[in-house]
Amino acid sequence: MIAKEAEDQGWHLYIVGGAVRDLLLTNNNQKVSLQDIDLVVDGFHRSADVGAGVELASTIQKKYPNCRLSVHGEFQTAALLWHKDPEFGSLWIDIATSRTEFYPYPAANPEVESSSIRQDLYRRDFTINALAVRLTPPREGELLDFFGGLLDLKGKEVRVLHANSFIEDPTRIYRAVRFAVRLNFDIEPQTETYIRYAIESGIYDKLKLKNHVTPALTTRLKAESKYILEANYWKPALQLLSDLDSLKCLHNQVILDDKIWWQIRCASRWLRYLDPDNNIGHWLIRLEILISKINPQERKQLALNLHLPKDSLERIDKDNIIYSEIQELLLKCNKISDKYKQLYRNKLADLILVAVNSKKEVRRIIWQYLTQWSKIQAPLNGNDLKRMGYKPGPQYKLVLDRLLALTLDGEIKTQQEAAIIVK
Ligand code: CTP
Repeated sequence: MIAKEAEDQGWHLYIVGGAVRDLLLTNNNQKVSLQDIDLVVDGFHRSADVGAGVELASTIQKKYPNCRLSVHGEFQTAALLWHKDPEFGSLWIDIATSRTEFYPYPAANPEVESSSIRQDLYRRDFTINALAVRLTPPREGELLDFFGGLLDLKGKEVRVLHANSFIEDPTRIYRAVRFAVRLNFDIEPQTETYIRYAIESGIYDKLKLKNHVTPALTTRLKAESKYILEANYWKPALQLLSDLDSLKCLHNQVILDDKIWWQIRCASRWLRYLDPDNNIGHWLIRLEILISKINPQERKQLALNLHLPKDSLERIDKDNIIYSEIQELLLKCNKISDKYKQLYRNKLADLILVAVNSKKEVRRIIWQYLTQWSKIQAPLNGNDLKRMGYKPGPQYKLVLDRLLALTLDGEIKTQQEAAIIVK
């Protein structure tokens, strides 16, 4: 229907990017579910304020009022979102405009057409993402492959389109890693050279966000880091980022040494077990450990630049000294109830961070607390005390704490034993 609309206007419409790549990578008998589609429309538009993409998206939205329209990027791009629509499911369609001229051109002129979509595709990151399929006549369904994308899909290579690509947009280094690991492709050797050159040329300064210079870039860096750190292939992806020396894009002090690597893996195992629904955001904990060796002030600035959520900022703000304090205190405690008292005020994420920063003995205590002690309850609760005729008041807490401590230490088990203590 979008193609028909574009055709009626005399415009050319293409499907580009990830959708084409993924369709071409799929076997004929496999069903592909596309939920994120990038379209490019090539056509003149009537005013300097809106591009053909925006005009096309608005027309579609009027016909399908159940989809939401948003316009971004200096009026050149529009997005249509169908949220759990019975006909389309959840579907996100970005419609970009490939030309910036505001005058009509002969739509039938193939040279004008191909130069415009070619330029659009040339601005993209990798050959495998620079493929397009024409959706409007003539020759609808034709694959446009100006840069050898099909060959690279077959050869399983991530190849950049031009030498400056990573300098212009360092987040593409993370994308190269992401596609290579996700698709099980290699990063083509020349492309790897460009990555290393970009890193050596001090790309970090570009991303450093002194005041307002590069907010769009850091937003993208955060998005790409999140993408990688929350994917099920985060381990090989992180290893590849490290091998390419590109963790420096986050900060020049970030290195994935054996200790950090171990901490990230250990924390991830604990998180999988203790927070199976991923309420904490496991990727954040991985990121926090990754940047934990940066000096505190710069670490905090980086976290602010990346707009990490409040919980994460609070954790990052804590000095590593806290970890050794908790460690020392725990080692001094003999009774389970005393260890419990040192731990129960802390949130799960904090405890996991303490654990991976502590020696084995302490780690074992924290694990026991999280998996056993934190689930133990005293045999009597406030209602029981009320029923037993004790007047509610501040004494309740003292009594219940005492009962819990005795239960944790195995000194009482039953309600009868607890009742004797209360008396
Ligand atoms: N793109 C780019 N440079 C970037 C980000 C995106 O050139 N830094 C281009 C690529 O051509 C990409 C398209 O924009 O194909 C859409 O971006 P995105 O949706 O992030 O990537 P997809 O290729 O669709 O990948 P995915 O399947 O992971 O969403």
